[in-house]
Amino acid sequence: MINLENSTVDLDISNKCTLECNRCERQELRSLNMDVPGGDMSVDDFIKVCDYYGSDENYIAFCGPISDPIFNPNILEFLKIAYEKNKRVKIHTAATSKNKKIDWYEKAFDINPNARWIFGLDGLPNKSWIYRVNQDSDLIYDAMILCAKKNMDVIWQYLVFGYNEDQIEEAKDIAENNNITLEINHTSRYIDHDIYKPTNDVVNETKKTVEYGFYPRCLSNNRPPYVSATGQILPCCWVDQPTVNLLKNDPVLATLNREDFNIKNVENIKDVYKHEVYKKFYNDLINNHDSCSEYCKKKCSQKMENPTRIKKRYGKLSRKS
Ligand SMILES: C[S@@+](CC[C@H](N)C(=O)[O-])C[C@H]1O[C@@H](n2cnc3c(N)ncnc32)[C@H](O)[C@@H]1O
Ligand code: SF4
Ligand code: SF4
Repeated sequence: MINLENSTVDLDISNKCTLECNRCERQELRSLNMDVPGGDMSVDDFIKVCDYYGSDENYIAFCGPISDPIFNPNILEFLKIAYEKNKRVKIHTAATSKNKKIDWYEKAFDINPNARWIFGLDGLPNKSWIYRVNQDSDLIYDAMILCAKKNMDVIWQYLVFGYNEDQIEEAKDIAENNNITLEINHTSRYIDHDIYKPTNDVVNETKKTVEYGFYPRCLSNNRPPYVSATGQILPCCWVDQPTVNLLKNDPVLATLNREDFNIKNVENIKDVYKHEVYKKFYNDLINNHDSCSEYCKKKCSQKMENPTRIKKRYGKLSRKS
């Protein structure tokens, strides 16, 4: 039986976001006229998360594929609970809200000074909003600087697009001078349009070469377990693909899509992994690849010669990734 006690976990604690970043799954759902599934995680369910996953080293990560965590009305309570239980959290945020000014961020930082904040700011504030549609980029920048001033663990996540390539050097200086880790992130998920598409050197760098060999990343801590915005306890966030209803259409993954594997119906998360269905899922990943999900086999058989996501870090580099 797999033991994920005290391991890192990814959570989608909401299904809301005010931004419209073009390559986010939210936009794909919208183009298909589909609702964003799920809702806000409750305090009770977050306590269940803390009672099983995470530690003072292994993060409980508020980073789901379909939302921004600041929109869960319980987030300040979650930060407090995690601090009291000595569980490290990281918050991936790029969205802004008219109701959340800088004093809201200050309150959030002070409630949990151990938290790692990862701010999605693609370039300097005068350009970040181009991909991060609706982002109050000045506010995110100010929040990031304030967080760093409080000597907290801050990462500036900078996705490189054609329109912001020229700001990287300035961003490096700002990061260096403000005690921020700058993560330059070359993604293959750019938009094929002049202002978004990086120069050819960057595009070539992000092209992938595929080799075969099935190495389930969830078995090597390379992909954390995941609790979706609907509350489903899943082996990783990749298997939650509402656009193609993967949890219904993939016969192996469908076995995990049970009511009693939903955090709302579970008392102890540990019991989920003790269940025969979950035991079989992980046993097959280890010993019986013929019975594994075709999606898993495809997703975890890709080995990139050049990874599609090239991350380069500058500034305060001493922190653990
Ligand atoms: C869906 S977001 C949720 C967290 C938060 N709302 C945010 O945007 O940071 C999850 C991750 O996807 C990243 N992301 C969004 N658009 C991307 C793109 N075109 N290429 C690579 N990563 C992207 C975000 O920066 C974030 O790290
Ligand atoms: S801020 Fe994050 S969740 Fe919101 S649209 Fe952009 S990538 Fe998606
Ligand atoms: S795609 Fe499947 S095999 Fe790969 S990490 Fe996720 S659950 Fe594991």
